[in-house]
Amino acid sequence: MAETTQAKKLKVLVIAGSPRRGGNTDRLLDQAAAGAASQGGQVKQIVLADLDISPCLHCDGCIQTGGICVIEDDMQWIHNDLREYDRFILASPIFFMGITAQAKAMIDRCQALWVIKYRLKLPIALNPQMDRKGVFISVGASKYDNLFQGSIATLKSWYVTLDIKYSAELVFPGIENYDAVSKHPTALKDAFALGQQLVS
Ligand SMILES: Cc1cc2nc3c(=O)[nH]c(=O)nc-3n(C[C@H](O)[C@H](O)[C@H](O)COP(=O)(O)O)c2cc1C
Repeated sequence: MAETTQAKKLKVLVIAGSPRRGGNTDRLLDQAAAGAASQGGQVKQIVLADLDISPCLHCDGCIQTGGICVIEDDMQWIHNDLREYDRFILASPIFFMGITAQAKAMIDRCQALWVIKYRLKLPIALNPQMDRKGVFISVGASKYDNLFQGSIATLKSWYVTLDIKYSAELVFPGIENYDAVSKHPTALKDAFALGQQLVS
């Protein structure tokens, strides 16, 4: 029998943006990934700090090549995953009121996909029949009202460019030490539920 859109397993790309392995955002991300997998999502996790991702050079090479970044590093296959997957979870702690350098480098390198979408007017999604959704998970040590505001704006801008609907954020202020999030009364359960909702 032919595979229908409903029967297809949703592919979930889980992106770890913290350089502190096993810390707060990683713990939340693991729960979100488990929640997505519990609903039948086919989860792939990537750890940006382990990859070779140069910052964007604004060399305009991607304009000359028609949307292919000329820097040869791990972004080449990440671009493909970003076009192929159906669900996305990006987690990053707050560093100086924004996302980490690792997460921002990956996002900035999506300028090549921006060229495909806005200059060439071509679709980003390789499976345009699937709806694409993404969420953002974050923590920060302080409790400023605007702690997550800039990062949320960045994530929304990135998801729009990738034809991914920004669906939700899960953010926790006042989380500083390595395992602080484990002591939060609901955070890990909330992250699991977010992963479930993203796939159901
Ligand atoms: C370079 C650096 C910059 C930071 N900047 C901020 C900040 O601007 N605001 C804030 O509330 N916390 C800031 N923090 C604290 C982290 O967001 C916090 O410790 C968080 O729990 C780290 O998450 P992780 O365990 O997932 O790496 C900063 C930490 C580092 C290392």
